[in-house]
Amino acid sequence: MSSILIENIRELAGIDYQTRILLSGKEMTDFETLHNAYVYIKEGKIEAFGKMDRDVIYKIRQQNPDVLIMDASGRLVFPAFCDAHTHLVYPASREIEYIDKIKGLSYEEIARRGGGILNSAARMQMASEDELFSSASVRIEEIMSMGTGAVEIKSGYGLTTDSELKMLRVIKRLKENHPVRIKATFLGAHAVPQQYKGRQSEYVDLIINEMIPMVVAEDLADYIDVFCDKGFFTVEDTDRILNAGMKYGLRPKIHANELARSGGIQVGVKYNALSVDHLEFTEDEEIEVLRGSETMPVVLPGAAFFLNMPYAPARKMIDEGLPLAMASDFNPGSSPSGNMQLILSMASILYRLTPEEGLAATTINGAYAMGLSEELGSIAVGKTANLCVTRPIPGLAYLPYYYGTNKVDKLILDGEICVEH
Ligand code: NIG
Ligand code: FE
Repeated sequence: MSSILIENIRELAGIDYQTRILLSGKEMTDFETLHNAYVYIKEGKIEAFGKMDRDVIYKIRQQNPDVLIMDASGRLVFPAFCDAHTHLVYPASREIEYIDKIKGLSYEEIARRGGGILNSAARMQMASEDELFSSASVRIEEIMSMGTGAVEIKSGYGLTTDSELKMLRVIKRLKENHPVRIKATFLGAHAVPQQYKGRQSEYVDLIINEMIPMVVAEDLADYIDVFCDKGFFTVEDTDRILNAGMKYGLRPKIHANELARSGGIQVGVKYNALSVDHLEFTEDEEIEVLRGSETMPVVLPGAAFFLNMPYAPARKMIDEGLPLAMASDFNPGSSPSGNMQLILSMASILYRLTPEEGLAATTINGAYAMGLSEELGSIAVGKTANLCVTRPIPGLAYLPYYYGTNKVDKLILDGEICVEH
């Protein structure tokens, strides 16, 4: 395994000297940076970092004559993005619905007509594992080229036992074939399939009695999710599913409060969810429930932007002292982009996060929401060397500011250069 010494870094961002697993409230804007810095990577880990110092650099080079020297003059180096919420395995794009949306139909109206998730589910029946694997691989390469080093991927376009298992097997294959770190989430409760219309609780029974046991038997999922929202699954459905998941050792990550104050945050916290995601409809009561819990609130700016929906009170949550993550929600219906640099821009422009807060939300706190933050998400000695090196840019603030283009020049994962533009 090679070692790399990155020298003359204009700005090294996302530093955590205490190797914490998440940052809350004010800690987020205190996510530190260093100017004129170095990072030394050895055996896939961050071995050392600090201000450029001639003696230290000389010593490292002496001790390790084979070290690859990378000059990062004028460049920003930061932890690779940790995207804690995506649906990036899907059979086909849905730009037709997008036109309906532009003409004024709501997300719920499209769903009621058999569009939306059910449209993807119908196509999923016909897609082969090979087709799904190859189209998702293209998306993974695309997000890596923009700096993502860890990603969570959900099932939920299957909605039959066979198709859900098919999706999860594809995710397993992606894990085995890509250097990016992947976590798999079982989302059988994404929508009620057509054939169960009016018999929602029977579909919940199917999830509990058939899908969960089979998913666990094949060890296909790290987490379990439910779309707990108006017009989708109720708090009672969610409670039953999470209870069953818990018995099989599956920790929840919940879709909550995207379309209404659904009670999803409360039921998620009740089951010690790793995260509750979306949160557009969040008020003081939900903020109090989150306070003191181990559940990460995850906001998905791409979905609110794309659907023209209200924005979650992210600024307020941080001001109230909560931690906060932001993820892409990469999916064909409500957020057809996995570009975390764009999420960072939205974090500042739409939600008023500082560049440091945005970086914390898309790196260390995202890593927490995937159960990976002991290893990933910040510049800390001993953590896995998953880093982005940008093209020459003035500094961290330029990353969200100069929106819409790719500023990442190199992606280093497990100490190896995986992307080089
Ligand atoms: O996170 N909200 C529920 N699920 C997805 C949308 C999936 C789709 O429309 O295909 C989301 O936005
Ligand atoms: Fe989602």
